[in-house]
Amino acid sequence: MDIQFRKLESSDRTDEFDCGNASLNEYLRRYAPKDQRRMFGVTYVAVCCDPPCKVIGYFTLANTSIPRQGIPEDLLKGLPKYQGLPAFLLGRLAVDKTHHKKGIGEVLLSRCFEHCLTISKVSGARYLVADVKPSAITWYERFNFLRIDGNQNAESIKMFVDLDTVRSAVDGKAAAAAPIH
Ligand SMILES: CC(C)(COP(=O)(O)OP(=O)(O)OC[C@H]1O[C@@H](n2cnc3c(N)ncnc32)[C@H](O)[C@@H]1OP(=O)(O)O)[C@@H](O)C(=O)NCCC(=O)NCCS
Repeated sequence: MDIQFRKLESSDRTDEFDCGNASLNEYLRRYAPKDQRRMFGVTYVAVCCDPPCKVIGYFTLANTSIPRQGIPEDLLKGLPKYQGLPAFLLGRLAVDKTHHKKGIGEVLLSRCFEHCLTISKVSGARYLVADVKPSAITWYERFNFLRIDGNQNAESIKMFVDLDTVRSAVDGKAAAAAPIH
């Protein structure tokens, strides 16, 4: 199967997408294209490209800030005392049920990290915040996301990861893969 990873296009088929969560399905079908046009969030998709291109996974990236008190004090040592800490927002990430557990979620999250590390070279953002459904908390914990302290509701939990640690992990892997002369 030929899977491509790229930005959502208006011709992509989203009508059959079903990740098992109604609000994440509806967002992709109804709101993702509008948000992208209005620059409220950019959606990236995994598409199965036997035309027409059918979306089998997606995530939406925007910007936010984290209240300083949401992050454990020991992780803030040596950092400036700003009250709002600049961050990217992974508003949604979902994979179609028929493609669960094939690694597509992990590839989408890696793509998200890559975009964040690239953009943070030209505009400051230290963290990636994810709005996480309670059933997916342990999935995000696999990638070192921690819960943000403070207001949480039953539908969605805010978690974060420090992009500095993501960058170190990526640089470490690249160094390990580099040929030794
Ligand atoms: C959570 C989700 C994105 C994972 O995507 P995926 O493509 O199935 O995940 P991957 O194939 O990359 O990862 C598979 C691994 O994660 C584990 N996993 C999958 N879903 C999980 C979940 N909800 N909680 C904990 N672990 C999970 C699998 O058991 C598997 O583990 P293994 O590698 O040890 O076998 C997907 O199940 C999904 O879209 N769920 C519904 C929507 C949702 O909850 N989205 C996230 C919140 S916004």
